[in-house]
Amino acid sequence: MKTYDVNLKMPFSIFIENIFKHSTIDDLNEINFLLKRANEDKSSYFFNYGRNALSTLIRKITSPGDKIIMPAFISPSLVWAAISAKAEPHFVDIDLETFNMDPDLLSEKIESIEDVKAILVVHTFGVPNNMDIILKIVEDLDIHLIEDVAHSMFAKYDGKYVGSFGNSVLISMYKQVPNFHGALLISNVKLEEPDSKEIFSLKFLVDLANLILGPHQNLISLIRKHRSFRIHDELENKKPTDLSIKIFSHFLKTLEIFENKKRSNAELFEKLFLEDNRFIPQKACENTERVCFHFNIRFRPDLSYLRDSVSKTLKSRGIFCGIQWHDSPVVNNKIKRLLRLKETFPKTEYLSKSIINLPLSPEFNEQDISYIYRAVKYTTNSIIK
Ligand SMILES: Cc1ncc(COP(=O)(O)O)c(C=O)c1O
Repeated sequence: MKTYDVNLKMPFSIFIENIFKHSTIDDLNEINFLLKRANEDKSSYFFNYGRNALSTLIRKITSPGDKIIMPAFISPSLVWAAISAKAEPHFVDIDLETFNMDPDLLSEKIESIEDVKAILVVHTFGVPNNMDIILKIVEDLDIHLIEDVAHSMFAKYDGKYVGSFGNSVLISMYKQVPNFHGALLISNVKLEEPDSKEIFSLKFLVDLANLILGPHQNLISLIRKHRSFRIHDELENKKPTDLSIKIFSHFLKTLEIFENKKRSNAELFEKLFLEDNRFIPQKACENTERVCFHFNIRFRPDLSYLRDSVSKTLKSRGIFCGIQWHDSPVVNNKIKRLLRLKETFPKTEYLSKSIINLPLSPEFNEQDISYIYRAVKYTTNSIIK
């Protein structure tokens, strides 16, 4: 049986062929050249993980107790990064079409609290947020705008690449391309460049296994269960390995082509899913060119209770899905208690329960897409009964 895995970015054979056949001369310079086209007044800094880059930046631009605004639908690791930097995260609910922070609610939030020093805009799963509204909101305010393009490199808002609007941009070296780890922060703030390269950690080995094994999720989940969630201080100031930088610089050159192919495949998926009103695909706004970090759908509200069983059952048909972020901070009791969160975020709460991230590859053909669609549909039918 063919398998489809949301975590498998590229077949291993192609990955190895690419890395070892075509080596580059100066990877760091190439990365800087490609990514700094729109960010010439900024400096770039390498980190092992995006969460550590974010934490270092926040520590630099805030004093203890200052506030940072984030989308409510977000990876908890970014919230822990803010907490570890002693800032106070405040959340904004999302727009259910785009899954991004709702800019109108952002405007209300800014008016309702003081000492906001930073806003983190995440272009979730490759869909750009509305930068016109966001730039207008921060126009006369002394607020540091951070764009997180971990999912969205080469997406465009109004013809401009995302990542070129903020004061800082956070780039992941392993989310859109197959890699072990690595993050890049391009910022107009002067930071301490992390001084040394990372040693092989347990996480590194888990990520290596993930990259190579793809579908062997049970083994990986088992290892992950034993991994601490906290930022490891001893790794905080370390850079990625040479290998991660080499891999990233290599794939960066072809990422835009890779993303264009994924976008065409996502359009095929979308056509099919729009025929069945039990599923609602994530949508991009009009003046944007999205990239597709997975193909993301949500169950209709009255059917969200099906999500966990459907995603589990799909594994038996060789389809490994994601459910990001089922553990959003606003539904995570540990974070809620720590931050004494009293507000509710109804759209994020619903999306955390109803989302499924389906595998999407530039190599899929119509048969692959139709197979996945039919599997989701029939699995849902069989569970409803
Ligand atoms: C959108 C987004 N940005 C940044 C991060 C953090 O990246 P890293 O895993 O490199 O710490 C995550 C982690 O899941 C993420 O989903």
